[in-house]
Amino acid sequence: CGITARVGRGDAVGELLSGLRNLEYRGYDSAGVATVTPNGLDVIKRSGEIDELCEAVEATAVRGATGIGHTRWSTHGPPTDANAHPHTDCLGQVAVVHNGIIDNYTELRDELSTHEFTSETDTEVVPHLIEELLSAGYSPEEAFRRAVDRISGSYAIAAVFEGSDAVYGTRSGSPLVLGRSDDCCYLASDVPAFLEYTDEVVYLQDGDVVVMDPDGYEITDTDGVAVDREVETVDWDPEDAGKGGYDHYMLKEIYEQPTALRQSIRGRSDPLEGRAELEELADDAFEGIESVHLVAMGTSYHAALYAQMLLADRGIPAQAFLSGEYGSSPPPTDDRTLVIAVTQSGETADTLSAVRSVQGTGAHTLAVTNVVGSTITRECEDTVYIRAGPEIGVAATKSFSSQVATLVLLSERLSHDITGGTPRATAELLEALSVLPDDVQRILDESTAEAVAAEYHDSDSYFFIGRGVAHPVSMEGALKFKEITYDHAEGFSAAELKHGPLALVTENTPVFAVFTGRDDTKTLHNVKEIRARGAPVVAVAAEGTDRIEEYADHVLEIPNTHPDVAGVLANVQLQLVSYLAANELSRAIDKPRNLAKSVTVE
Ligand code: G6P
Repeated sequence: CGITARVGRGDAVGELLSGLRNLEYRGYDSAGVATVTPNGLDVIKRSGEIDELCEAVEATAVRGATGIGHTRWSTHGPPTDANAHPHTDCLGQVAVVHNGIIDNYTELRDELSTHEFTSETDTEVVPHLIEELLSAGYSPEEAFRRAVDRISGSYAIAAVFEGSDAVYGTRSGSPLVLGRSDDCCYLASDVPAFLEYTDEVVYLQDGDVVVMDPDGYEITDTDGVAVDREVETVDWDPEDAGKGGYDHYMLKEIYEQPTALRQSIRGRSDPLEGRAELEELADDAFEGIESVHLVAMGTSYHAALYAQMLLADRGIPAQAFLSGEYGSSPPPTDDRTLVIAVTQSGETADTLSAVRSVQGTGAHTLAVTNVVGSTITRECEDTVYIRAGPEIGVAATKSFSSQVATLVLLSERLSHDITGGTPRATAELLEALSVLPDDVQRILDESTAEAVAAEYHDSDSYFFIGRGVAHPVSMEGALKFKEITYDHAEGFSAAELKHGPLALVTENTPVFAVFTGRDDTKTLHNVKEIRARGAPVVAVAAEGTDRIEEYADHVLEIPNTHPDVAGVLANVQLQLVSYLAANELSRAIDKPRNLAKSVTVE
């Protein structure tokens, strides 16, 4: 879900709605706003996309200089008008928006049994609790604090009160960031919500309570003691957070990959010296480390699997886990284990839990993330940023490339620290990494993915195969395809093909075979087996890969490079195929059905 709030001079509604649009990637099944007016609180909310809300707002001419807004992704209760936020108390004195889950809401709801609830959400207990406290004589601020004290779970909350021009906010386990301009203050789940209006931000921490009014803001801790939080300037251009002329955020982000990769590797790689530098890490950061666990979900999990292979190749015992499974059967960890959390948003609940599950075991924790100040950066001892810039499209694209580039550097650093490394191989790899942005640009300029998408977009199923790092790339290719085309797609290790998946192959199931320059001969054998069953084959391979033209119906070429980074290039071709196929099918590419950019509940 996404929260936005604003206080200051002039009308809040336009800014709240534009904030919600910029947060749509966090959830978009219903939305609402509440403003403070001289006649009380005006609350308006609608199921469906934000356009529905905008129409309703126009029709009722909602106004006010102080307000809160919310875009929802259902957890408790279906997406209906009643379940949309903001939620209010029985008397209309307070309106609340919430992101996260209130674990003890059943208990609280029982306790508040004399109140009339109008929704099935966990959130609604908050305004009713506040109502009780207001009736007991507490001020809005004190009522807000006391209500928050009563709830457990993960939350970011913002509230407005009848007759008050202030917004109250707090967080615990869900993101909340404050923005300040000359005459307004903003509060939101994420910076793009108010980036058009200010680039000065304060990342709130768990337990912080903020009160913003037209004169400014004050942050206090749970006990009400004022705390000082640093004001940071974000260098994201508002254009960056918009579509910048592309039809979809996803396409824009695919095309941003050369820039994103340059940012990821800038100042971190010295091919001449054969060294990978990650300035965030102290010289002794990995002292005593003998093995690595990587925890992640979705696309980040595929980047983690990719890194597992790079590390294993360098003689480092490494294993990637789905973070949602890590806690169920926890592998042993101690002070010789490094646990790397790979997460674009830094807010994925499963990944946060996986990291929390090793606390106290002595394991060293490291976040590899894109979002400065995100929760994971506070949960882990060290953080390395992938520096890809904001990613809005639900289907992750540039973050995967930047994760892999960063994990290549990290693998080199770990290899050096743990095993002593092999300088010649390092120099070649770092050289390949330094030209990776240009190689990606070549693919973007020359790809023939359009012909492939046009020919196959109405097939029965799509399979993706590869060996080594091409295996996670195949899984990522299939994930992208299913996320945005809604068609069935699966990624396998090419080695697995004969052990089951081959039974699914028919003339109407195109197979994408990914070649990286390692084990190509074996993958070529698989291609022959597939061809023999009549399935079309699309090879993703370097120019001049042996006999590939002979066996593949199409070849999506990638520039020749080091096999460790060839997977990034192959993945760009697969991203383009998925995007173009989904576009042929007129899918909601940036907001695929049932999916959210950031899954902040387990
Ligand atoms: C969701 C998104 C995916 C993303 C995954 C992990 O499923 O739809 O695109 O890969 O979460 O997100 P993270 O922010 O932890 O990388």
